[in-house]
Amino acid sequence: MNLEKYILNHIDEEGERLYRLNREAHINLLRPRMLSGHLQGRMLKMFVRMLQPKRILEIGTYTGYATLCMAEALPKGGEIHTIEWNDELEDFIRKQFDEPELKGKIQLHIGDALEVIPRLDGCFDLVFIDADKRLYSQLYDRVFDRVNSGGILLADNTLWSGKVLETPHPGDKQTAGILDFNKKIKQDTRIEKVILPLRDGLTVIYKK
Ligand SMILES: C[S@@+](CC[C@H](N)C(=O)[O-])C[C@H]1O[C@@H](n2cnc3c(N)ncnc32)[C@H](O)[C@@H]1O
Repeated sequence: MNLEKYILNHIDEEGERLYRLNREAHINLLRPRMLSGHLQGRMLKMFVRMLQPKRILEIGTYTGYATLCMAEALPKGGEIHTIEWNDELEDFIRKQFDEPELKGKIQLHIGDALEVIPRLDGCFDLVFIDADKRLYSQLYDRVFDRVNSGGILLADNTLWSGKVLETPHPGDKQTAGILDFNKKIKQDTRIEKVILPLRDGLTVIYKK
């Protein structure tokens, strides 16, 4: 048994619904490995459990897997806004969110997050950045003023399969995007930050 299996056997289960969603994504969608999955999903739920954020913003919905994980621990009256630019996923995502207990909790926005964020009302207590790696720095700049002081930003895939240790190929804009983001975060004095080596790297940022 490898370590990942051991971990999954000793943490909370993902539950039947998320298990089915994961399988459905593998059967019907391109790049199903993009969804957070069991371990990171439980971690996201735990963040929400610990932080009790009233307003969450997710940038990059894909199947809604992570959205549903965060919704599990959302405090009473809390809401999650999630943005996805691929409108071909809209029906799939809406189907996942169409549950009585989720009514009024999740709002899906279809469009480019760089354009959608300025149109959203209010500020957020927790932001999960999990979209196009080439845009991470821009997305961070776009959303930063919309995060409450004391709020948390999470950025996924910040170790990018270890490619952060290599000089990127000139055409590899995704690795370049992650490297640029990691450098920007390191230099930003308005925040405290740590990179968790969880799955593909999860940066946790605290806004002072
Ligand atoms: C890694 S997946 C998200 C996975 C999801 N957060 C989860 O953990 O289950 C990234 C998603 O972001 C979407 N995306 C990428 N860039 C975007 C942008 N600028 N605005 C909105 N969505 C974007 C992609 O279409 C893709 O569905």
